[in-house]
Order: sequence, then C-alpha cells, then structure tokens
Amino acid sequence: MKPRITPTQTEVTFAPHETIVSKTDLKGRITYANRVFMKVANYSEEELLGAQHNIVRHPDMPRGAFKHLWDTIQEGREWFGFVKNMTKEGHYYWVFANVTPDFEAGRIVGYFSVRRQAPRAAIRAIEPLYTEMRRIEQEAGAAQACAASLAWLTAKLTELRTDYESLVLSLFHD
Ligand SMILES: Cc1cc2nc3c(=O)[nH]c(=O)nc-3n(C[C@H](O)[C@H](O)[C@H](O)COP(=O)(O)O)c2cc1C
Repeated sequence: MKPRITPTQTEVTFAPHETIVSKTDLKGRITYANRVFMKVANYSEEELLGAQHNIVRHPDMPRGAFKHLWDTIQEGREWFGFVKNMTKEGHYYWVFANVTPDFEAGRIVGYFSVRRQAPRAAIRAIEPLYTEMRRIEQEAGAAQACAASLAWLTAKLTELRTDYESLVLSLFHD
C-alpha cells in the first residue's frame, strides 16, 4: 500500500553526474534501486524493493503521461520523458527519464529506468503542458482522463510541428 504523503513546495536536486536507476518486474514492482535513488527519494532499499514504482508518484503528474509510458514500453520500445517525482517527505524532484524494456530471449522480462537531472528550461516548458493535462483529466472524469489529456497533448504538439519524444529529447539536449 502506498502511504499517504502531503506534497510540499520544497525541491530536491541531485548532481549532473548522478543518475537515478531502478529496475522493475512486468507489473512495475521495483526489483532494483541504486544508491542515488535511495538518497534523493529518501527511501531505504528495504522500503523500495517489492514496492510499486508509483511510490514516488507526484500528484501533479498527469495520468496520461504514465499511460503513454506504459503503452510505449509494453510495445517493446523505449520511452523518454520528464517526470515530477515525490520523496518520502513530500518534496519534489524533476527528472529526465529513459525507461526501457529488459529483453531475455526476445521476451520482455521487466523494465529499467535511468534518470538524470532535468534542465530548468525543460521544466519550464513541460510543466504548463502537464498542468493543462491535469485540468483536462479532472474535467473528463476517471474513465476518460487519459484519452482526453493525451488527445489534447497530441493536438497541441502537432500544432507545434513536433511530438512528445522529439520535444523531450530536444529540451534535454538544448
Ligand atoms: C521502469 C519503470 C520506472 C518508472 N519510474 C517511475 C517514476 O520515476 N515515477 C513515477 O511516478 N512513475 C514511474 N513509473 C510508472 C509507475 O509504474 C506508475 O505507472 C505511475 O507512477 C502511475 O501510478 P498510478 O497509476 O498509481 O497513478 C515507472 C514504471 C516503470 C516500468
């Protein structure tokens, strides 16, 4: 069970050379967490192993972003994205995440993720998109939330002549 945590307005950062690494099983239960993950999220290895990865989910994140993540990795492709996560005490930290399927003999046996510090300019660009997605999700109701916010995101990015992956990669590299 995920404990109820009240989000704070305090940001936690980590060094540019540090990477937050985790592995999960097919259902998103954590099977490996590196030291940086434990230090930034402030959970012990014992608390993380076996827990669902939503243990660090921040309520500001739109559900559609995670649907996009899962749809992509379950198809066997890697996903890039910006994610706002929450520490054990409710503080937040932004990451640039790369999530990839872990293949064995051609079959997906789990997933792993490597995250780096998200550039400030990227956070400034992504945050308003996520805020609008959250608003749309609340308006649409639980059953339609992901479809509605993802449809809005796709339309918005098409208007800007880009897509989520291209936008994320260009924001990370700029
Ligand atoms: C390898 C891997 C890494 C993940 N990393 C995160 C993460 O850092 N933060 C997060 O909120 N969700 C992460 N997720 C997605 C979660 O499994 C989950 O879908 C998300 O937190 C939404 O949870 P909810 O459906 O309970 O709201 C990851 C999933 C996988 C497979």
